Amino acid sequence: MDKVAVNLSGPPQTMLATLYAKALDAGLANPILGDRYAEEVVRRIDYDWSQTSITARNCASVTTRTAHFDTWAHQFLAVHPSAVVLHLGCGLDSRYFRLRPGPAVQWYDVDHPEVAALFTRLYPTAANHHVIAASVTDPAWLADIPEDLPALLIGEGLTMYLSEPDGVGLLRRVVDRFPSGELQFDAFNRLGIKSQWINTVVRRSGSTLRWGIDGPDDILRAVPGTRLLARVRWFESDTFARLPRAYQVMGRLMSRVPALANMAQYHRYAFGREC
Ligand SMILES: C[S@@+](CC[C@H](N)C(=O)[O-])C[C@H]1O[C@@H](n2cnc3c(N)ncnc32)[C@H](O)[C@@H]1O
Repeated sequence: MDKVAVNLSGPPQTMLATLYAKALDAGLANPILGDRYAEEVVRRIDYDWSQTSITARNCASVTTRTAHFDTWAHQFLAVHPSAVVLHLGCGLDSRYFRLRPGPAVQWYDVDHPEVAALFTRLYPTAANHHVIAASVTDPAWLADIPEDLPALLIGEGLTMYLSEPDGVGLLRRVVDRFPSGELQFDAFNRLGIKSQWINTVVRRSGSTLRWGIDGPDDILRAVPGTRLLARVRWFESDTFARLPRAYQVMGRLMSRVPALANMAQYHRYAFGREC
């Protein structure tokens, strides 16, 4: 089979790094995520993967996050077998195929057109799985999503690429449209945005990170109707506990300085009627 050429820049390019991290992890003796789809997709893409700066030693910085959001999504779907999933800024992530949601779930993978085109080319079609080629900040695509089911918004590695007004507008539109649901996304705090020059993946892609979220209050104030379910710092998650000692030492050091502790966080909110 011919390999698929990619020529991406800006935010779309960054998903090559997260994809490659998952593929490398899958090849390890004790993988965190074990994503065989990522391995296969990487094999089918013609790209100099060394450009991503991801190696077997640092891939866990991505896969611990992905495993964490798989767990949260799985928990939501276990309670809501009929639901809409908005997987925003999906990149080439195989979450739909990893989680295999039930037949009453409508799943939407949304990303910029160049990424959505690759997704459609590289993954099989599946019932109730839809790929939308759009900016997540464009209100138009949401109007076509069924509005009578509980909704799960997942934004992994997304919010930092949005401006604050665009990000808040997106969250408000989702909360206003569906009867109930959850918002699950990760965020960098303002220090994380200021120090974006240390992020090799972002720098090499030519992207600019914009939206810094210091804590849940930023969201609870800006998005009426949200209730905090969890805020987990990177080093507090169950998946982080599976990493080697060097990471644990770094986590302990970060936990002592609040601004560093909040550099990378996972947020989970409920909205709408209580279930
Ligand atoms: C760091 S990658 C994460 C990809 C995937 N969620 C993962 O974890 O592997 C960021 C993704 O967000 C997408 N993205 C950023 N801004 C976006 C926007 N305004 N609309 C749609 N997708 C966006 C990029 O195209 C890219 O695929």
